[in-house]
Amino acid sequence: MQRNDRVNFGSKLGAILAAAGSAVGLGNIWRFPYEAGNHGGAAFILVYLACVFVMGMPIMIAEFTVGRHSKASTGKAFSVLAPGTQWKWIGFLGVLAGLLILGYYSVVAGWTLEYIVAALTGSFVDKTSADFVAIFQNFSQDPFRPLVWLLAFLLFTHFIVVKGVKDGIEKSSKVMMPMLFILIVVLACCSMSLPNAGKGLEFLLKPDFSKVNADVFLGAMGQAFFSLSLGMGCLSTYASYFGPDAKLGKTALSVGVIDTMVAIMAGLIIFPAAFSVGIQPDAGPSLIFITLPNVFQQAFGGVPFLATVFSLMFYVLLALAALTSTISLHEVVTAYLNEQFKLRRSRAAMLVTGFCLITGVLSSLSLGVWDDKILGLGFFDLLDFVTAKIMLPLSGLLVCLFVGWYLKRSLSYEELTNGGLQKASYFPLYMFILKYVAPVAIVLIFANELGLL
Ligand code: PHE
Repeated sequence: MQRNDRVNFGSKLGAILAAAGSAVGLGNIWRFPYEAGNHGGAAFILVYLACVFVMGMPIMIAEFTVGRHSKASTGKAFSVLAPGTQWKWIGFLGVLAGLLILGYYSVVAGWTLEYIVAALTGSFVDKTSADFVAIFQNFSQDPFRPLVWLLAFLLFTHFIVVKGVKDGIEKSSKVMMPMLFILIVVLACCSMSLPNAGKGLEFLLKPDFSKVNADVFLGAMGQAFFSLSLGMGCLSTYASYFGPDAKLGKTALSVGVIDTMVAIMAGLIIFPAAFSVGIQPDAGPSLIFITLPNVFQQAFGGVPFLATVFSLMFYVLLALAALTSTISLHEVVTAYLNEQFKLRRSRAAMLVTGFCLITGVLSSLSLGVWDDKILGLGFFDLLDFVTAKIMLPLSGLLVCLFVGWYLKRSLSYEELTNGGLQKASYFPLYMFILKYVAPVAIVLIFANELGLL
């Protein structure tokens, strides 16, 4: 395979930060703390850690193997590694999932921009809980305003992707990821120093094993999948830009550790602040767009300036985390159109942005003026359900089967050891998990999420 003209990430650190950027997103900051809080706090975190490190890591390494060995984006990688077979459908599934997730994910990402502006202009000052509910509902159901932010967010993503792998994705990750770490540490420290913060810490960190049941296990696994960006070829596409000396096992471990740390730190921001003012953190998008601005206002209420700065930093953090993820979703599809149909990168990106703008607009409207239901769900919820609950686990399962059973074992070994230059003593365990443990576990999540268990 002669693809020497293919661009790679310029450095190993750049590659790690880009992959971590894909993984760290709304899933960590919004979904994880809520899931953890609801499922027994530290008990959930322990199960989650097991899911990330026992299952998530091997699947991530498998995706890396597919990407780096084929040197093709996920849409093409499977036809390169298994020409003439039906495995190519895994790639298409990934591309389609990327396209669909990007549409609705960008809607929520766009909301973060509205909240940045609202924080900046002091719109949160002196508001009551009821005001925050009204602010969010009026905004998210407005037929026009969220669309402007959706467009803005998609355009940011678009321009970074058009700049290419090295100058766009890698460079932006190298700037945004450190900013994100600084913001998250500062916010967590502020939140934990509030009066009564200890109760929030207890809620998040004190294990309540009585709440651990099959649901917690399966919930943790689903969360691990979404949060690590597994099962749709984002990481396999990024791995196709890894240099020959990138260590797949070490990179996967770094991404897993960073992603988990950000998730736990997000919990350390949200719960101490919420408990400090005696507000029960509740579910869904309302947690970060209704409860939190209220919490921040009350927590720092005596000093409106502090409340404004804290809210502003939080929504900037959220926007950055979402942006590094939307970039990876966009790249999966753009790279595919570019490689498969030989479209120029800018043209491929334009098609992706255009398509996602349409699905994004429909998703956004389905939260307000467009109240038709498809299969009992609004368009936004339908996209979320079909992608996160069906397409991701399905394609994750197929990747396990592909690398575990179809690809030659020696090919995997060669990738993990960089042609024998590195040690990979974990290799037999890794193959065992890919062949047996992970597929069984995924079938279980799948069955549970579809209500079959
Ligand atoms: N991992 C991202 C998050 O936690 C979401 C995502 C899923 C990104 C799948 C890319 C692919 O928000």
